[in-house]
Amino acid sequence: MSDQWGFETKQIHVGGEPDPTTGARAVPIYQTTSFEFNSADHAANLFSLSEVGNIYTRIMNPTQGALEARLNALEGGCITAIGLPGALAVASGQAASTLAVMNVAETGDHVVASPSLYGGSYNLLHYTLPKMGISVTFVDDPHDPEAWRAASTPKTKCFYGEVLPNPKNDVLDIKGISTVAHEVGVPLIVDNTVATPYLIRPLEHGADVVVHSLTKFIGGHGTSIGGAIIDGGTFDYGDAERFPNFNEPDPSYHGLPYWPGLGHGAFILKARVQLLRDIGMAISPFNAFMFLQGLETLSLRMERHWSNAQAVAEFLDAHPQVTSVNYAGLPSSPWHERATELGGGKGYGSVLAFEIEGGLEAGKKFVEGLTLHSHVANIGDARSLVIHPGSTTHSQLTPEEQAASDVTPGLIRLSVGLESIDDILADLKEGFAAAS
Ligand SMILES: Cc1ncc(COP(=O)(O)O)c(C=O)c1O
Repeated sequence: MSDQWGFETKQIHVGGEPDPTTGARAVPIYQTTSFEFNSADHAANLFSLSEVGNIYTRIMNPTQGALEARLNALEGGCITAIGLPGALAVASGQAASTLAVMNVAETGDHVVASPSLYGGSYNLLHYTLPKMGISVTFVDDPHDPEAWRAASTPKTKCFYGEVLPNPKNDVLDIKGISTVAHEVGVPLIVDNTVATPYLIRPLEHGADVVVHSLTKFIGGHGTSIGGAIIDGGTFDYGDAERFPNFNEPDPSYHGLPYWPGLGHGAFILKARVQLLRDIGMAISPFNAFMFLQGLETLSLRMERHWSNAQAVAEFLDAHPQVTSVNYAGLPSSPWHERATELGGGKGYGSVLAFEIEGGLEAGKKFVEGLTLHSHVANIGDARSLVIHPGSTTHSQLTPEEQAASDVTPGLIRLSVGLESIDDILADLKEGFAAAS
C-alpha cells in the first residue's frame, strides 16, 4: 500500500490485494475456524508471537485482517512493532468500547466520561462497568476540559467520549480534552461512529484510541453488526504505577509485560492477544467481508448523506411545527465552529434531532405518519430512518439522565439516508401533516 494514496484509493485498495492462492480479486470470505500449522516449530512460534500468523479465527483471520488494515489506513492508526496494523475488528460497536476500556481499566480503577453518548455506551459505563469494579465519573459539562481534570484521580485510566454524539450533536473538543488527558497521564478513547474517518480523523487531533460501530455508516447497508478499535500508537503506557496491567508480566502470556515487551501498538496487541483471546467477541469473517464492501463506497455515500442532511436540517429549521434543531451544520448551532474546524467544512454528519411542537403525542403521530422513513433503532443505513429516543433508545435512562443527553419528550431523531432529497422532504411533510 502507498501511504501517499488519497482516502478514496485507500478505502478500495488497502488490504485488498488479489488472493495469493487463487487470484480472487475481491477479498475472499475465509470461513474457517482454524489454520493448519506447517510444523511443530511453526505452531510454537505462532503461539509465542515470535512469528505472526493465523491460528484461530477468534483471534485472527485473513478476512478480518483485510478489514483491519483498511480501517487502520483510513483512521491513520499505527503499524505495530510486530507488523500488524493497529486495528482490531470485533463483533459489535459495544464489544469495541467494552474491550477498549477494559484494556486499560480493571477492578478498582476509574474512567472519566462525557455524558453525551449513545444510550448503550452510557449504560455500559454507568451500570455494567461499575458492576465489574470500574467506577465512572460523568463530567457535567463535557465541553469544559478542566472538568475532566477535576474528575480525575490517581486511579483514572482513560477519558472516554463520542466525537459527534447524537441526539445532541455537541461535537467533542478532541484537542482540548486530549491535552488534559495527556497532562493527567491517561489516553483519550473516542467513538467516531457518526463522523466516520472521512469527516474527522480523531487521532490527528490528539485522541489515542478510536472505537467504531461498523454497523452504521462503515457498512452502510444495515445488514451486519460489527465494531472496531484503532490504536494511534501515540500513548506511552510506561507509567508502571498507573498501568500495572501493561508493565507487569502477564502469567497468561508467558510472563510477557505488554509494555515495553510488545513495543509500538502495545494497546491494540494486548487487546487482541489477551482480552479478545479470553472474552472472545470476535467478528465473523462473513460480517468482515460485508464491511469491506461498505468501505469501498464510504466517501461517496457520506457526501450524499451530508448534503441530504443539510437540506433536511434547513427545512426543519424553517418549519413552523419545529421548536429546535440539533445539527452542527446549521450556523446557529453552538457546535458549528468546532465541527467546521475538525471536519474542514466538508460535512456535519447525517444524524440529527429536532423538537416537534406538541411534545410526546405529536412526536408519535409524526413518526407514524412517515412512510418512506423506516421506524427502526439504527442509524447510518442507506435508507432514511426515524425514531423517538424518549420511548426507545434512551428509554432505559432516568428522566435526569435523559435531560443530560438532551432527550426531551418531543424529540425526534432522523438518520438521513441516500434517497432523492425531494422524496425525503415530501415524506417529512406528510409526518408534520399527521402531527398537526
Ligand atoms: C455512536 C454509537 N456507538 C456505538 C454503538 C453500538 O454499536 P453496535 O450496535 O454495533 O453494538 C452505536 C449503536 O447504535 C452507536 O450509535
